[in-house]
Amino acid sequence: MERKELTEKERLEALDNAIAIIRRNLPDYTYKCQQANTDGGIYEAIDNIEWTTGFWPGELWLAYLNTNDEIFAHVAGIFVEDFKKRIETKTAVEHHDMGFLYTPSCVSAWMIKQDCHAREAAIKAADQLISRFQEKGQFLQAWGVLGAKDNYRYIIDCLLNLPLLYWASSETGDPKYREIALKHTRTCISNSFRKDYSSFHTFFMDPETGEPVRGETCQGYKADSSWARGQAWGVYGLALAYRHTGNRDYLDLFEPVSKYFLDKLPEDMIPYWDLIFTSGDEPRDSSSASIVACGFLEAASSFEKLGEYDKAVKYRKLAKQLLKAVYDTCMVKKEEEGINGLVKHGTYSKKSPYNTCTPAGVDECVSWGDYYWMEALTRLGGWKSWW
Ligand code: GLY
Repeated sequence: MERKELTEKERLEALDNAIAIIRRNLPDYTYKCQQANTDGGIYEAIDNIEWTTGFWPGELWLAYLNTNDEIFAHVAGIFVEDFKKRIETKTAVEHHDMGFLYTPSCVSAWMIKQDCHAREAAIKAADQLISRFQEKGQFLQAWGVLGAKDNYRYIIDCLLNLPLLYWASSETGDPKYREIALKHTRTCISNSFRKDYSSFHTFFMDPETGEPVRGETCQGYKADSSWARGQAWGVYGLALAYRHTGNRDYLDLFEPVSKYFLDKLPEDMIPYWDLIFTSGDEPRDSSSASIVACGFLEAASSFEKLGEYDKAVKYRKLAKQLLKAVYDTCMVKKEEEGINGLVKHGTYSKKSPYNTCTPAGVDECVSWGDYYWMEALTRLGGWKSWW
């Protein structure tokens, strides 16, 4: 049976829903950020200390672009100052997630409102990110004390932190950011994908020789399974890597990595939290579907520019099928009570007997799930990317 695609009417209805919920949330999250995931359907209001706090301001900028209502830009502007303070005071920035934090909150603000504080903060965040580059192994160390043997690794998620570096080079004219992004991408592509195009979540390098050591997982089910969101970061990350480099190898790799993800989807197209599960009642991760939809739309526009129209049509159609699945089974309706996220059935970190994660946000809304849903809906209508 042919899968249904999100229609334009449904896209507009979904945006209307999302924007109504975001508007209702404004009083709670103007001077406070949203927690990474909801707890029983509600986001705790927290200080700006998580790796995820850029997504809510990103949603505000997307709401602004869709409505031209200055209230969204005003509140997003308050967050620019908060993010500037965070990087200046180096608060909770000893990790690699500067792109997830500063691209949707500050690169966006610079692009939309030419906010100089946003530009300054985002460049400082890029400096912070490149401070984690390890010459031995040529990668950005994800977590922990720099150089520590038990943390001498990168994670596939980092592909989404790299657009901040490409942006910083083009803004400043200094190639150092871009060069590090290129080196990290090469390392990631050499090690993170297996022969069947599934992916390792984390990958250790040898601190003495710089040689690749082994793949492991933190949030996936086990080391040799494929964590759904890791695969999704891989799909979107490769599409973005192609746009920023023009290296055809990345677009060629995007295709089988995408196919692996699609082949593991259950009938309703909402991935289980790890792609080792293809049926049964394990929790889903709807955020992976929206992230992959963004990756497909990104790749579709690259294929279009290359004149490869069949592929452009194919990935645009697949993106709309994934979004229709999220619309049908996960979208929060604006009338719903007791829930203040945009998309249900996300999973942040599910504990398994084999992984090392701290359990959090299983079958809840997750802030990046809300954000990439909004981004995908906006992209479908035509959008200038800040990634
Ligand atoms: N980047 C961490 C996650 O996707 O949960």
